[in-house]
Amino acid sequence: MNQNYDASGKADMSGIYNRTDPVPYFETLGTLGYCIPQEAKGTVRALINALRKIRRRPETSLLDIGCSYGVNAALLKYDMTFEDLREHYTSMADIPRDGMLREDAQFFSDPYDPELEVIGMDTAHRALRYAIDAGLVDGGTTVNLEEDDCELTPAHRKLLSRADLILSTGCFGYVTNRTLDRLLECGQDNHPWMCHTVLRMFDFTDAAEALAAQGYVTEKLDRLTPQRRFVDENERKQVLANLEELGVDSADLEAEGWYYAQLFVSRPVQDARDMPLPSLLANP
Ligand SMILES: C[S@@+](CC[C@H](N)C(=O)[O-])C[C@H]1O[C@@H](n2cnc3c(N)ncnc32)[C@H](O)[C@@H]1O
Repeated sequence: MNQNYDASGKADMSGIYNRTDPVPYFETLGTLGYCIPQEAKGTVRALINALRKIRRRPETSLLDIGCSYGVNAALLKYDMTFEDLREHYTSMADIPRDGMLREDAQFFSDPYDPELEVIGMDTAHRALRYAIDAGLVDGGTTVNLEEDDCELTPAHRKLLSRADLILSTGCFGYVTNRTLDRLLECGQDNHPWMCHTVLRMFDFTDAAEALAAQGYVTEKLDRLTPQRRFVDENERKQVLANLEELGVDSADLEAEGWYYAQLFVSRPVQDARDMPLPSLLANP
């Protein structure tokens, strides 16, 4: 099979992002050891717990940018692992979509965190449709906030303004500070926190600056997190070249065949002062 690469040198995965069911997504990314949502889960859970304390209410709304088939919703609302999902969906490869949704109704019948509302945002309309039909996300939109001519209707604003926490895993790069800025415009009164996983070949500086202009502090977690293996040698070479150009040392990391990401947490200045990130993460 001919592999295509996007402008950043990443293998083009568009063929699995917008299918009528999640099987190809989990088959392909499972084979590549994709793990970023799982790696981010503990941090996101700690942020949700902290938000509950600071906002003195259990109901929490999470906006998942690039929600795909509802991956983070399954991890956070149903306490699944990415591996649970991979097994669940790849075992249903021969089942039609309707049957899969019936199986999902059983599989996702007992939420671990019923007070967590998840709103999905993804330009992949079939993936979002699946996440909604499976009951994984509580609502969603395919609006593309990267586009110049994207128009936010009152309904979009209502949906996007309710977030307490805005999350993205494996999506920064497809989305930029443009999307984050526009989301903050919608949710000005709610002062949502944010957590983004960002591959080391992408630069979060512009986003952090745009968020700072809106009264946000961005903190980068020290740890580096594996995301997935490279698809092939071409992808590895292109990504290593990109990193070198950015002055990022890939020795013992990407050079060994895996993408690495960093987690960025952005919060309003006062919240960041009241709840220092290291202690919030140490005592979830
Ligand atoms: C690597 S997948 C990550 C999916 C999921 N967050 C996870 O970690 O498993 C990237 C997702 O970003 C979505 N995406 C790409 N461009 C987007 C945009 N402009 N706005 C929202 N989602 C976008 C893709 O459709 C895809 O579902």
